[in-house]
Amino acid sequence: MFYKIAENFQVKIDTSKLKDIPTIFQQSTEDRKTRPVWIKHTRFTRAGDWAFVSFLENPYMIYPELCNDIVDKISYLSDNKINKSKEDIRFIRTEGDLIPHHDGTRHSCINIGLELSDSATTTFSINNSFDDYDCIPPNITGFNIKQGEIYILDVKNVHAVHQISTEPRYLATLSFMEPYSYLLNIFNP
Ligand SMILES: [Fe+2]
Repeated sequence: MFYKIAENFQVKIDTSKLKDIPTIFQQSTEDRKTRPVWIKHTRFTRAGDWAFVSFLENPYMIYPELCNDIVDKISYLSDNKINKSKEDIRFIRTEGDLIPHHDGTRHSCINIGLELSDSATTTFSINNSFDDYDCIPPNITGFNIKQGEIYILDVKNVHAVHQISTEPRYLATLSFMEPYSYLLNIFNP
């Protein structure tokens, strides 16, 4: 479901810049190809109020060095089996808890922890079941990604996010249409 492939990766950036980037809603038809922009998706929480997950398009325009470092690091860690370009990197911002779900637009991903990334816990259902979220562990497993840690994740498996802080939580991410087993074979053969 998830597997740590690296730690102590140097990701020092000025995250305060992220607050100044414009946000548009998922439904918007505004240009998202030629500038950094947060695409905001709305989700309901279990309490019935709103939570938000946003994807930053084109973070390489603000953090070229970090984005180059990320693709180089992933190429190195994968023995050159994965060669993404810096344009493939997006950042994720979560605000509030995300209820159990599986991702709609990708099968697996690589997440890179940025500053304060560990202010949220990502949990996975061991049985890939929504019902598990009514139970106590051991049916649920999870982790808090720390700054400089890199994880591969099976985002088609039912998962949720519990936010610990009231501040937004940021990550860098690379999306894959290949199943999680593809990434696991590369990074943990
Ligand atoms: Fe997700």
